[in-house]
Amino acid sequence: MALRHFLTLRDLSSLELNRILERAHELKRMQHDNTVYQPFVGKVLGMIFEKSSTRTRISFEAGMCQFGGSAIFLSPRDTQLGRGEPIEDSARVISSMLDIVMIRTFGHDIVERFASYSTVPVINALTDDHHPCQLLADMQTFQEHRGSIQGKTVAWIGDGNNMCNSYIEAAHMWGFKLKIAAPKGYEPEEKFLTEFAHCVELVDSAEDAAVNADLIVTDVWASMGQEEEQKIREKAFANYQVNEKLMELAHPDCLFMHCLPAHRGEEISENMLDHKNSVVWDEAENRLHAQKALMEFLLNENLKKD
Ligand code: CP
Ligand code: NVA
Repeated sequence: MALRHFLTLRDLSSLELNRILERAHELKRMQHDNTVYQPFVGKVLGMIFEKSSTRTRISFEAGMCQFGGSAIFLSPRDTQLGRGEPIEDSARVISSMLDIVMIRTFGHDIVERFASYSTVPVINALTDDHHPCQLLADMQTFQEHRGSIQGKTVAWIGDGNNMCNSYIEAAHMWGFKLKIAAPKGYEPEEKFLTEFAHCVELVDSAEDAAVNADLIVTDVWASMGQEEEQKIREKAFANYQVNEKLMELAHPDCLFMHCLPAHRGEEISENMLDHKNSVVWDEAENRLHAQKALMEFLLNENLKKD
C-alpha cells in the first residue's frame, strides 16, 4: 500500500475524512474525561516550522505527548534546512529517524517535494496555498454545534488565501455550498474556482455571501509573508469586515469561525470573537483533537504498509 500523506484535504477520501472526525470527537471526550491513551509510546513526530505558530505547534506537540510519543521542534534557523541543504536530502535523512513529520512553510511545492522523498507520513501544517489541518478542526466544530454540514451554506469573507483554498476543497469533500466574497484582485485562482464550480460561487459583496449562511468564516487580510502589503490590503478589504450587522443577514443560528490569530478592528469588529454564535475557542481547541485523530490514522495506515 502506498505511503499516505496529508498535504491537502483531497489526499483522503470523504469517507476517511469523516472517520477521522468521528475519532476526533471520541478523542476529545477521552481527553476531557482524563482517559490516558498512549498507543504511540516511542514514536517521534518531527515539526518543521518556517513560519510562526501558536495553535499548530502546541496542538501537534501536546497531541503526540498525550499519545505517549514525543515531538521535536525543528526551525530552519537551527538546522541545515536554513542553510540551503536540499529539501530532498533533508527529507530522506529526517524521515529515516522519525515516524511522522509535519511542515509549515511557504511554497506548497516544498511539502510536495519533502513528501515525495519521505519514508514516513508528511502533514501540511500550512503552506501559502493550503491549511488542511485547520479545516479538520473547523468541520469538527461545526458538527459539534450543528450536526452535519452537508447541504449547508458557508460564507467565506475576505482574502482568497490558503484558508479559502482549503474551504473550497472542503466544500467538495463534505458537500456544502461555499459563497466567496473577496475584493477584486484577491480572489482565489480562476482555475481552482472553475474546477469547483459545482460547489463554489464567487459573489459581489460580503452582504451577498452572508445572506442565509449557516457558517461565516474569515481570516486575516495579510497572511504570513505578506506583512509589507498590510496598508494596501487594509484599503482593499475595508468593506469585508465580519461584524454583528453582517451576522444579522445570515440564519439566526449561523456560526462564526476564524482560524486565529485575529485582528480586531480589521477583518472582524472589536467584539466579534465574543458574539453569541462565535465558536472560535472550540475551533482552536479542536486543532488538538482533530490532529490527534489525523496522526493516529496516518501512523496506523503506515503500520499496515510495513
Ligand atoms: N490557526 C493557526 O494555524 O494558528 P497558528 O498560526 O497559531 O498555528
Ligand atoms: N492565512 C493565515 C492563516 C494563519 C493561521 C496565514 O497564512 O498567515
